[in-house]
Amino acid sequence: MSNELMQQKIEKAQRWIDCRKQVVKDGDMRQHYHFMAQAGWINDPNGLIYFKGKYHFFYQYNPYEGFWGSIYWGHAVSDDMLHWEYLPLALAPSEVYDEHPRGGCFSGSAIEHDGRLFLMYTAAANEGRGVEQTQCIAYSEDGIHFEKYHGNPVLTAPEGIEANQFRDPKVWKHEDTYYMVCGASRDGKGLALLYQSKDMLHWTFFNVLAESRGEWGYMWECPDFYPMGDKYVLMFSPMGSGDHTSVYLAGDFDYGTGTFSHYISGEIDWGFDYYAPQSFLAPDGRRIIVAWANEWEWMPLWKDWGPTYKEGWCGFFNLPREVRMLEDGTLKFLPAAETESLRQDPRYRDVLVVTDAGQELKAGDGVAFELKMKVDLEETDADTLELILRSGNGKRTLCRFDLAHGQMSVDRNASDGWSRGVSRSTLFLKGKRELDIHVFSDQSSLEIFSNGYQNNHSNNVFAGNDQNRIFIRAQGGRAVIREYESYGLEECFR
Ligand code: FRU
Repeated sequence: MSNELMQQKIEKAQRWIDCRKQVVKDGDMRQHYHFMAQAGWINDPNGLIYFKGKYHFFYQYNPYEGFWGSIYWGHAVSDDMLHWEYLPLALAPSEVYDEHPRGGCFSGSAIEHDGRLFLMYTAAANEGRGVEQTQCIAYSEDGIHFEKYHGNPVLTAPEGIEANQFRDPKVWKHEDTYYMVCGASRDGKGLALLYQSKDMLHWTFFNVLAESRGEWGYMWECPDFYPMGDKYVLMFSPMGSGDHTSVYLAGDFDYGTGTFSHYISGEIDWGFDYYAPQSFLAPDGRRIIVAWANEWEWMPLWKDWGPTYKEGWCGFFNLPREVRMLEDGTLKFLPAAETESLRQDPRYRDVLVVTDAGQELKAGDGVAFELKMKVDLEETDADTLELILRSGNGKRTLCRFDLAHGQMSVDRNASDGWSRGVSRSTLFLKGKRELDIHVFSDQSSLEIFSNGYQNNHSNNVFAGNDQNRIFIRAQGGRAVIREYESYGLEECFR
């Protein structure tokens, strides 16, 4: 019966999406190659998995408008994580435990079990005792049509954990046991809880994987735990932790005791629009992460979610990134190699000498483009190097590399009349001979990678097509750029 209700809600939403999708496709701010829904609101990536020969992305979804609301799971499949086929919605709120105007089927993950695709998600509802979050299961034979498990919920908040702050299960299998990490809050501090199960349906508490002492906020959203070589990585998005959007801890993990000894911490992205990354394994063994290119209301630089709701949509994912660990245990995050297949209209320069007079650069149409270069630090005596992006109509976004003081920043205060804030990160340049810079611009976003893909800034910029000029400028001396490449990028959605 209840699965019938879910089907009815999915079909109704599907009819609405069919009416709205052309308007969204024609929207001025629509992304060209970043993943978006056909219409409506999206937030976190969910259930990322390579299953039966395709990449499956699920996503937090309100099909009805460009704002968060009662949450469904959208679903799309791809061969390359760039070109997408949208499938019927996977989950709709339909049960007492997950039906609520400000609740629904919250974030979770996917795993193959007994030949079926299992989704584990957080059900959020309020049956009169306040908002309660529980962990639930749905499964599918064909990877397209899902059924909720009749024994849901499979897990409720343990003692001491606030029932409205217990969510976002990420599951994996190790030997013959399933494990799950879940975000939570205890005594006003964020933490990650570890559970185990033999059958995906019955779960027992194992350990606290890691806990904030205040420095990492009051609640951890969307934790993810995975191996990198012989180490383990815990990623999460902390609530109430200043400008941090997505961070990681790395160290050793003992499956015997469930103990995670972490001695390294780092930032996945220093920009304002990189939240709730989830990881999965590509068939060739790469660990890929995908994040929601936005942030919530509690973040310091929140203004609003941009003007796209007027076009009937809001939200997209950042480019898929490959995670790699360096010898010192820190991580770098590279744009997935698949993105190279989008390149068009290549331009190369072996050497480019930049002074304070500046010069104009050409890359594709100046809206959807890629730029790559290396600053030769031995030949450069400038104090700063600036990239002026999406410039035009009196507006621009300023990316500054302060070589004298070791800082990278991206200033959105004159970007679009909408966005604001300056994202900053420290650049460790001591002993380095070159500084790599890699920019991806799309209609409504700038992702700028630097310093071996450890200083990454994702910021949304809602700029029109008249903002299509690019300049480079040095101050306090000259900058020598080597291996300059630029490309236009294919439009994947039209
Ligand atoms: C993170 C998050 C999750 C929650 C979902 C609700 O962005 O707040 O913690 O499950 O979004 O849509």
